Amino acid sequence: MFETLKTLAKGLGDRRIEDLFADVGRADAFSLEALGMRFDYAKTQIDDDIRAALLDLAESRDVAVRRDAMFAGQKINETEGRAVLHTALRNLDARPVLVEGRDVMPGVLDTLARMEALANEIRGSDVTDVVNIGIGGSDLGPVMATLALAPYHDGPRCHFVSNVDGADIADTLRRCDPARTVFIIASKTFTTIETMTNAETAKRWLADKGVDEAGKFIALSSDVARAGAFGIPPERCFGFADWVGGRYSVWGPIGLSLMLAIGPEGFTAFLRGAEAMDRHFVEAPLAANMPVLLALVGIWHNQVLGHATRAVLPYDNRLSRLPAYLQQLEMESNGKGVGMDGAALPYDSGPIVWGEPGTNGQHAFYQLIHQGTRVVPCEFLVAAQGHEPDLRHHHDLLVANCLAQSEALMRGRSLDEARARVAGQFEGDELDRQARHRVFPGNRPSTTLIYPLLDPETLGKIVALYEHRVFVEGVILGINSYDQWGVELGKELATALGPLVRGEAGAGGKDGSTAALLRFAHTHKAT
Ligand code: F6P
Repeated sequence: MFETLKTLAKGLGDRRIEDLFADVGRADAFSLEALGMRFDYAKTQIDDDIRAALLDLAESRDVAVRRDAMFAGQKINETEGRAVLHTALRNLDARPVLVEGRDVMPGVLDTLARMEALANEIRGSDVTDVVNIGIGGSDLGPVMATLALAPYHDGPRCHFVSNVDGADIADTLRRCDPARTVFIIASKTFTTIETMTNAETAKRWLADKGVDEAGKFIALSSDVARAGAFGIPPERCFGFADWVGGRYSVWGPIGLSLMLAIGPEGFTAFLRGAEAMDRHFVEAPLAANMPVLLALVGIWHNQVLGHATRAVLPYDNRLSRLPAYLQQLEMESNGKGVGMDGAALPYDSGPIVWGEPGTNGQHAFYQLIHQGTRVVPCEFLVAAQGHEPDLRHHHDLLVANCLAQSEALMRGRSLDEARARVAGQFEGDELDRQARHRVFPGNRPSTTLIYPLLDPETLGKIVALYEHRVFVEGVILGINSYDQWGVELGKELATALGPLVRGEAGAGGKDGSTAALLRFAHTHKAT
């Protein structure tokens, strides 16, 4: 499938990205401005021919047809027999969205109105702390967005407990006043062991503190019956349908903690941003479509050039959890070994995604990005302005660092340049040896997404941009981006290991390594 592109890649020879800028129009020709943001992919090896081949690939894989099928409510999640309609949650124009012939929008808008009423009630009360208990998609989206929008917080403090490690909830509850704390139990299935264990612990904590649990719990789930069995009354349950995947669920009830933090208006702006990106994704031609171009750059680097990872590097400290959020979004969606038809993928699945905010990462792993033997395509994000008017000099430094990194990655530093820098300090062979350590190969690709300010609407656009990028890459790879069977085996084995860890059953039948680790755990168990 990638033959033409692989041939083009072979033909690159020793061409350097920098040389492409001999074309003075390159920066604009290989950037896209849409929705007030600029996506620059000029600092990659992609030229007219490569871009044309990538767009041909998208056409041949029916990206537009599959996209329209998704928005039309067709069951594109074929292994689970479900539609994929997180976009309906931000369809504020209420354009009808049909699932099996029924418009789902009245239900979506009704739930949103109920969330707003509850958010206003809690924000107007003496509640000081809200603890969202959830994991994976029921945690990462709200955490990421709540941190990102800190300047807009005017509600109760929001905490997030996800890990089954008791340290997580213990450290959180220590900071909360039981009389003024509300718990949100966020779980699509309402069965996830981590979430249920933490929810029970929260109940016990209230009881131990002598606080009545009535009115203290809210449920966000597709399984309202299970939430009821936990003791949460229907008026405090917010359901969502099975056509909202966990990692795509921040736009609905799972976003309640964000709504509590920034208020219903701010939350609506977040949805509006995503809705605008949806419209762009549906309407813009592929060649001028931001999610499509972002995906094609990804395919070029990962499947064609074989770079196994990509780094997401937000020069926006409040996006510190964006890499973690994207790890689930991208790797749980496109980390699959078989295509829709069940046959093994004849090429690599989606890439390994990782990252940290700049400038912190510069003082940690950028050494490898600049001089390591493997190429790591980098995706920079940066705002033109910060939220701190008194600290403009900080922001100028932040932007300068972001731009400097992509320039350094592309330009590098030759041996001659390195020699010239140390010429006064060393001579002869030592000069040469010292210079080699200071060489940067350069020619390392990166993209930059620049936007005016990280406000709720912009965050909505960015998150929806990445969601659609994952979709496009998944379609091109022929993957079902909406199931996650790969998380099941570990869960099953953990359930089976429970009695062995508790000492209620022996380790017979376990491999030698697991048995020895169990023995060590028993020997050193707290008594
Ligand atoms: O284990 C993976 C997963 O199923 C994710 O896909 C999901 O976001 C997470 O667990 C949490 O699931 P739930 O919201 O049902 O508790």
